[in-house]
Amino acid sequence: MKNKHDYIAVFDSGVGGISVLKRLMKQMPNERYLYYGDSANAPYGDRPEAEILALTEAAVKHILTRPVKALVIACNTATAVAVDTLRQAYKDLPIFGIEPAIKPAAESYPAGKVGVLGTTATLESSRFRALVARHSDRCDFIPIPVPKLVPMVEQGIGNSRKAYKMLDKILKPYKGQLDALVLGCTHYPFATASIRACVGSLPLLDGSIGTAVHVKRILTKQGLLNPGPGALLWENSSPDPQHLEICKMLLSQALEEP
Ligand code: DGL
Repeated sequence: MKNKHDYIAVFDSGVGGISVLKRLMKQMPNERYLYYGDSANAPYGDRPEAEILALTEAAVKHILTRPVKALVIACNTATAVAVDTLRQAYKDLPIFGIEPAIKPAAESYPAGKVGVLGTTATLESSRFRALVARHSDRCDFIPIPVPKLVPMVEQGIGNSRKAYKMLDKILKPYKGQLDALVLGCTHYPFATASIRACVGSLPLLDGSIGTAVHVKRILTKQGLLNPGPGALLWENSSPDPQHLEICKMLLSQALEEP
């Protein structure tokens, strides 16, 4: 039996899911959150699907040793690979995933050309291909893998000259050609200044606000919203004590509002 006071668990391969946590906290400030990052094993996005699935299953098993009323997979890569398996395994737990904002992009930029930044695993997954196929009659989507960005965000240097130089090499060929850019990885909002330095005022889309609104709607419907007070418990698989500092720094970092 789920309890209003139980945690909303937020899981990511590392610190990226904090961008989703921030949106959830804004929508539902009275909730008790458990944030679990698997930074010891990040990045997930360059691994084979079997490994991503095994790591995600192990992390979720650990998370569920706590009282949890809902699980948010705040990771596009883990969602693409593992959300169906997890929903099969934990049938009475509300499990929310996140996917690149393809649908909002197709609605906002009809006949447009939209770049999709993501990890290799997300962009090569069958779930992502199916998502794009559903909307490709309205928009031309161009997958753009950025494998080096997640490790930089993990180190707290998503917004840095190093990150900008790496991104600029990747994004230069698309200059002046795109109508919007989807941030298809939850780490990337923490590199927005670097991305902006490459693409100027190009619209950036990320799915985290939509996810947070959806989670609130479902928990409200199920009578599971916590009256308060809110709380936040940090957990990370990395033994490095500096990780908690990076998590707190990212939580305090302002995100672009749409
Ligand atoms: N935050 C994860 C995502 O949204 C990053 C995956 C990784 O660890 O490479 O895809």
